Amino acid sequence: MKPLNLVLLGPPGAGKGTQAERLREDFEIPYFATGDILRAAVRDATDLGRKAQAYMDRGELVPDELVCDLIMERLDDPDARDGFLLDGFPRTVRQAEVLDDALAARDRELTAVLVIDVPDDEVVRRLSGRRICVKNQHVYHVEFDPPKNPDVCDQDGSRLIQRDDDKPETIRRRLEVYHRETEPLVAWYEQRGLLRRFDGTRSPDEVHRHIRATLATLRLEAEL
Ligand code: AP5
Repeated sequence: MKPLNLVLLGPPGAGKGTQAERLREDFEIPYFATGDILRAAVRDATDLGRKAQAYMDRGELVPDELVCDLIMERLDDPDARDGFLLDGFPRTVRQAEVLDDALAARDRELTAVLVIDVPDDEVVRRLSGRRICVKNQHVYHVEFDPPKNPDVCDQDGSRLIQRDDDKPETIRRRLEVYHRETEPLVAWYEQRGLLRRFDGTRSPDEVHRHIRATLATLRLEAEL
């Protein structure tokens, strides 16, 4: 079967992480989220984490040169041979060019770029109520997707916390950065015929069904 090499794109809080967790189970492909990798580096106080933290706390992008290497390493992971799902990368045209070159050098190409569209006011509502578990970063929402027991992860029993960058002023900054730096990638990938758009204001289950059906069709077409 042809590998599924996928990128998830969309504003903060669009539901990229929520959908990625489901898609990696559906298609059994590894999921690499630059945000999760960077937060782990901050938690572990690595050199990368120390350099990245100030940018992340301000809601700004971490410099391209720090982020690109992280993803290049993952592309060479043996698990990624049969496909991968990138969340949070690329986030600038420069990063998209680096990814293109890296894939070409490995004789590979993207299958599709999945954009989840959500308006700014919905982003603010979602991120203000988001909670994540400290152990595995499973995602909840106090109103839209609450855990069975308050502040406890259903999946691993660990404590739920609010992300540092989910404060209202930082959310607004992240949205500005998204519109300026990342949204141009929508047109960039559309020109390359890779873009697939999804209405992220639907329920998580509906968004999931729509993406899954689209990917199943793409896979079928690739086999014909
Ligand atoms: P990152 O962690 O990638 O954050 P983000 O892109 O801002 O995305 P989020 O994780 O906030 O949102 P999401 O779309 O995954 O939504 P989720 O599923 O959680 O990046 C953080 C920072 O790291 C950046 O600001 C930057 O500093 C740095 N960084 C990362 N990558 C970088 C790169 N490539 N270059 C430079 N810097 C980089 O859902 C959100 C909430 O909504 C949840 O509570 C969820 O339960 C709920 N929800 C989800 N779907 C629905 C739905 N359909 N209906 C109702 N509620 C829903």
